[in-house]
Amino acid sequence: MPAPCNIVILTGAGISAESGLATFRGPGGLWEGHRVEDVCTPEALAADAELVHRFYDARRAALATVEPNAAHLALARLDREWRGELLIVTQNVDDLHERAGANRVLHMHGELLSALCAGCGERVEWAGPLPPGSVCGTCMSPEMRPDIVFFGEMPYQMERIERALGEADLFVSVGTSGAVYPAAGFVQGARYHGADTLELNLEASAGSAYFAETRLGPASVLVPAWVDAVLD
Ligand code: APR
Ligand code: ZN
Repeated sequence: MPAPCNIVILTGAGISAESGLATFRGPGGLWEGHRVEDVCTPEALAADAELVHRFYDARRAALATVEPNAAHLALARLDREWRGELLIVTQNVDDLHERAGANRVLHMHGELLSALCAGCGERVEWAGPLPPGSVCGTCMSPEMRPDIVFFGEMPYQMERIERALGEADLFVSVGTSGAVYPAAGFVQGARYHGADTLELNLEASAGSAYFAETRLGPASVLVPAWVDAVLD
């Protein structure tokens, strides 16, 4: 196969696991005994904003205690040195790709360090706790919420993602269980448009059957080895 010009990389919680951030469906995937599917929903926000805000405040606070790992750093090197198109689509809401130095990153499920006004759509950077009822600085409505895509809500920038998948020569998935759509369907979209596909994951996932190749192991080992091979 000629060297791929356009690469799309999808990352999931598994790429941040070795930095110390819990995955969703692995051991410890619950939070205070709640399944994430029960906390990350518009209904949960309406029913118990205090609980939902507390969940995200805790995850935001945890960010300050962790560092990017070798997998994030390898993707940042690829972002710096790759001369073709490259898009890192992350399902993660942490900022470890950016702190590793990557720029071409798209957060399809939102970001912990951002707050969104449910009234006017204004986004602001947010690093500390986000008390329910926080007032929007633009429209003054007391509806600031975590800038997170909840279950049942549309992920961000789907048109841009689908365009990139349509033009990809190579689609690589890192550290995701393939349990949640639309991200879980990206590999089929990429294949349909003729892309080669590679999965790097700790264990076989729900999407493994759709990949031309699956390599099993920790992201901190597999991703740097793959980036070295692509760049060298
Ligand atoms: N290296 C590589 N892969 C790993 C590692 C590691 N060190 N540790 C865990 N994994 C893999 C697991 O085997 C699993 O397949 O990462 C995957 C994590 O799966 P999930 O916990 O389901 O996380 P993710 O796939 O990102 O979830 C998708 O679901 O809860 C929603 O919005 C949330 O973005 C999230 C989405
Ligand atoms: Zn507003």
